[in-house]
Amino acid sequence: MAEPDLRTPSAPPTAPGVHPKPFWSFRPRSDRESGDAVVSNFMLHWFPAKVSKASLDWSYSFWLGTASAALLLLLVLSGMPLLFLYVPSVERAYASVKDIEYVVTFGSWIRAVHRLSAHLMVVAVVLHLVRVFLTGAYKNGVGRGQRRPVNWVLGVAMLLLTLFLSFTGYLLPWDQLAYWAVTVGTNIASSIPWVGNTIRELLLGGREIDQPTLIRFYVLHVIALPGLLGILFVYHMWRVRKDGGLARADREGVLEQKAEAPPGPTKTYTLLGVARGQAPAIRASSLEARDTTVNAVPDLVRRAAIVVLGTIAVVGILSVFFRAPLEEPANALVTPNPAKAPWYFLWLQEIVTDTTVHIGSFTINGAFLGGVLLPGLLLTVLTLWPWWDKSPAAAAGVWLGQSRRRQNLVFLAVCVVILVFTFIGTFLRGPYWHFYWPWEAWPEIPGRI
Ligand code: HEM
Repeated sequence: MAEPDLRTPSAPPTAPGVHPKPFWSFRPRSDRESGDAVVSNFMLHWFPAKVSKASLDWSYSFWLGTASAALLLLLVLSGMPLLFLYVPSVERAYASVKDIEYVVTFGSWIRAVHRLSAHLMVVAVVLHLVRVFLTGAYKNGVGRGQRRPVNWVLGVAMLLLTLFLSFTGYLLPWDQLAYWAVTVGTNIASSIPWVGNTIRELLLGGREIDQPTLIRFYVLHVIALPGLLGILFVYHMWRVRKDGGLARADREGVLEQKAEAPPGPTKTYTLLGVARGQAPAIRASSLEARDTTVNAVPDLVRRAAIVVLGTIAVVGILSVFFRAPLEEPANALVTPNPAKAPWYFLWLQEIVTDTTVHIGSFTINGAFLGGVLLPGLLLTVLTLWPWWDKSPAAAAGVWLGQSRRRQNLVFLAVCVVILVFTFIGTFLRGPYWHFYWPWEAWPEIPGRI
């Protein structure tokens, strides 16, 4: 019997006696089956039925946004069992984490997965931002109703939330590492003139890191920040769809328009010298040549599944080898030397601790420079950049585009400086924030832990 033609609109969804598939097919036999998979499936229906082929290239986006989303998912999944076991009280927090680490079955692995995902998410989100900048993907292209700059601003907010989510988690184990990293971090905040101390007190729930701090950080960490990040993520994805997919898809539109400007050789006909037209066969084939899209199922879904499952597998395996640290219980009377902020704030600590600028009789101290002025300035410039970038729409979705060369170079230079400062703060700073090569031994300091 001849196969039913599933392309025709009148074809029944399933042949008589054949039961519909419970989920969806990774190998749809027609465009129609592929479209059906998207609209009939709750998890898939936020994808469009068709996507631009070029935007799926591994080397365009490196799928860093999807990897960031996978890490967020992993954080939620690994955080759930921890919620049942962790006690947010100054008296019991450390002991409950010690139990998770040494008593609970698979506890230390779950904790390692959570901690590693948090660190990797910071890395993935920053790399995603770098990719979006270097491809000019915050720019509107040729599509109608695009608001890519809005998605960029949303992204900046999501980066801040990611950092704050990680920072609030730092305190929860209530060990020396936690206590002093948060002390240093919140001290940076207190260097803001006039309002700095108020902000610090608001964050800590008092002057010292104590029970009110722990409960504030706990609520922010498990409810407020993930909830807000989740909402912004959904909005971020919705905007990607409303903007017509990734900026790379627009780039194809621009090229297409250019290509269309001088009409290519076509076969025309005249009917008795009265009517003129283009041969239908030629028009159809030129339309086909312009079809730069593929079905979301399976092309997009398969790649997204590879990235999500691959990220989960890599973190799961690495967590077997890299255990989450747990130091001595927090002790306000014993200050580690050096006391370091979490690694992603170390470039700021480097400036806070070591830089004082004199301009004539005017002095800007390091705390103000690294704690307020520089991060505030960078953040403002970063947020507003899409409105300052006046390069043509054709520069959107192009890696290191010629017309954006200067701004890409400045951006990369700032990234390198931040990276170098982070490296110095992490590996080359010892007691009293003195400089030591990695192979140099630190001097013995009485009472140092
Ligand atoms: C929790 C953090 C974030 C998650 C989970 C996330 C997720 C995603 C995903 C899945 C995409 C589509 C695919 C891709 O480009 O890989 C995307 C695109 C995009 N993201 Fe993010 N993102 C995050 C943070 C950011 C940040 C920090 C920025 C920039 C400040 C940003 C700006 C954008 C823009 C402009 C697009 C469209 C890119 C294009 O058209 O090529 N996102 N994001």
